[in-house]
Amino acid sequence: MSQITEIAPDIFKITTFISEVNIQFNQFLVKDEEPLLYHTGMKGLFPTVNEAVAKLIDPTTLRWIGFSHFEADECGALREWQRLAPDATAICSFVSKMVSVDDVVAERPARALEDGEVLVTGKFRFKFIQTPHVPHAWDAGHLFEENSGTLLCSDLFHQNGEVEAVTSSDIVSRFKDMLIEYQEGPFANYLAYTSKTEKNLGRLADLKPKTIAPMHGSTYVGDGETAILDLAQAMKEVLAESA
Ligand SMILES: [Fe+2]
Ligand SMILES: [Fe+2]
Repeated sequence: MSQITEIAPDIFKITTFISEVNIQFNQFLVKDEEPLLYHTGMKGLFPTVNEAVAKLIDPTTLRWIGFSHFEADECGALREWQRLAPDATAICSFVSKMVSVDDVVAERPARALEDGEVLVTGKFRFKFIQTPHVPHAWDAGHLFEENSGTLLCSDLFHQNGEVEAVTSSDIVSRFKDMLIEYQEGPFANYLAYTSKTEKNLGRLADLKPKTIAPMHGSTYVGDGETAILDLAQAMKEVLAESA
């Protein structure tokens, strides 16, 4: 059973906690003239996410399906969604589309977004920021909704555990705890710290988001610029200095 929380007007977070891995998986449903789902979740989550989406909109009217990079929790159920919603088109980076998505999970060709391109869904404006290897994977990018100041940030700010839906308290320390925990187990080197990490995170900080919406853990409402700069420092300390 998934939990639904409105994190900004007409932007809804759908959360499912998987106790075996101690992680929440969040998808985001944006209610607009052209409804958008960000992250599909894995195939196994499709029934519960579909049930949650149906409480918010008619799922067959879904128009856009976005995600950061090619991975099961990002876009694993894309085909299931596209079979249900005949006009649903995937939006992702050119690399995602060309290298994996169109061949492996898409029912029909994805639309590749260029760096800086804005997709207007009605009242919302989603700017695509291409951020290779941030959080990880060659094809990674982020969507930033300009009117509400909401950054859909994928695995950045990942927090383990069954945490609250939304918080204004610091989430960077939880993120850092997760990184340290993962470095000591089979999920080591989960996120990458490369020569371009600081620059890419700087571009996200410059957006000055008011709401930061990670795939795993609580949504943060507050000074997003400072939070991202603090996150960059945490990544450097755990990932770069232990390399
Ligand atoms: Fe990921
Ligand atoms: Fe993820």
